[in-house]
Amino acid sequence: MKLKNRLLFICLSMVLLSTVMISVAIFSYLGFHLHRVESQYGTSDPNYQTVVQPLKQMWNTPQTRELLIDLAIMVILALCVVAIAVALWLYWSIVDPLKKVQIATDNIKNGNLDFEMNINSKDEIGELYADFESMRKRLKDNAEEKIEADKRDREFISNISHDLKTPLTSIRGYCEGIMDGVASTPEKMDKYIRTIYTKTTEMDDLINQLTLYSKIEQKSVPFNFTQVSANEFFGDCASALELELDAQNIKFEYTNRLRQDAQLILDDEQIRRVLNNIVGNSVKYAHANPLVITMTLEDVGGDVRVSLADNGVGISPKDLPHIFDRFYRADSSRNRSTGGSGIGLSIVKSIIEEHGGRVQASSEKDKGTVISFLLRKAKEVKTDE
Ligand SMILES: Nc1ncnc2c1ncn2[C@@H]1O[C@H](COP(=O)(O)OP(=O)(O)OP(=O)(O)O)[C@@H](O)[C@H]1O
Ligand SMILES: [Mg+2]
Repeated sequence: MKLKNRLLFICLSMVLLSTVMISVAIFSYLGFHLHRVESQYGTSDPNYQTVVQPLKQMWNTPQTRELLIDLAIMVILALCVVAIAVALWLYWSIVDPLKKVQIATDNIKNGNLDFEMNINSKDEIGELYADFESMRKRLKDNAEEKIEADKRDREFISNISHDLKTPLTSIRGYCEGIMDGVASTPEKMDKYIRTIYTKTTEMDDLINQLTLYSKIEQKSVPFNFTQVSANEFFGDCASALELELDAQNIKFEYTNRLRQDAQLILDDEQIRRVLNNIVGNSVKYAHANPLVITMTLEDVGGDVRVSLADNGVGISPKDLPHIFDRFYRADSSRNRSTGGSGIGLSIVKSIIEEHGGRVQASSEKDKGTVISFLLRKAKEVKTDE
């Protein structure tokens, strides 16, 4: 039975049942009292003759009966109308919102998430709508994220194919040159072999980056955390970076504002990788002459902030929010031969997050870029000695 018929049936049967019960109660009550008066006073008593007798006579007249029956019919009809109105009101207040939920469910089933479920009421139906609406928003966000991730994956495959194909093509070209005898002199042969070597190293680096990234994503990289002195560790990193950058005529400045005894718990190799990725980006993309890279260490509450800044061209506001996304490269870096695969900074983010820290970037056009990350300090263990 449909809900509408069920409600109608319930309301009508309630009305009829209550009418019958009330009538039975009234008549039995009256009959009982008349009978009591009759038996108490007797039919010859003047009280009986003045009160009960006229009542009985009135009841026995056909006009009175007709009047009472008409009255009962009118009351029953009026109650039926009220019952139908109540049933319909209940029906619309339940079925209408239910129909909307059904339409919304159909939309979701068909993959359409671009609609809104709005209701201002604060009752249970309003709560159901609000829950449904938040579910729809969540599904929509997930669907959009998935589309975005699929798009990035497709882009990534085409970028990787391109990044691998470029060195492969030149390796093949140089090998053909050697086979065809173009590398006729020992110098030429040496040049060809060195180029082949460089290209295979490039490919090896790329494949290593990819392997590392997928391992970090699957959380299968064993992090080797140890407690180190922040000053010693970063001092050592700074010396290594200075040496390396100096060989490329890049100026490196190191500022340490940390307390002398600051201790960190970190994975030495992974944090060095973070620094190299960030500095490597400045070398590749800053395009400043002279290029100056600075590393600054500061205390920020219970954390140590490490900031790496360059004086390069900067990153556009459009690209900045995405540079930590996997495989994201700013448009300006895509066409350049120096462009990587867009994994470096996503590896940085994953590593820093594994350390319980956060990474962020700020940049200003033609002024430079600052990438900074926070590392939690090791808790000081106080001894009574
Ligand atoms: N210091 C910087 N100056 C200008 N642009 C930068 C800088 N650092 C990063 N970028 C931009 O951010 C993008 C993402 O950097 P990320 O390190 O993730 O990838 P990549 O360097 O392109 O590739 P990979 O690191 O995998 O070799 C770069 O492609 C570049 O466009
Ligand atoms: Mg990089």
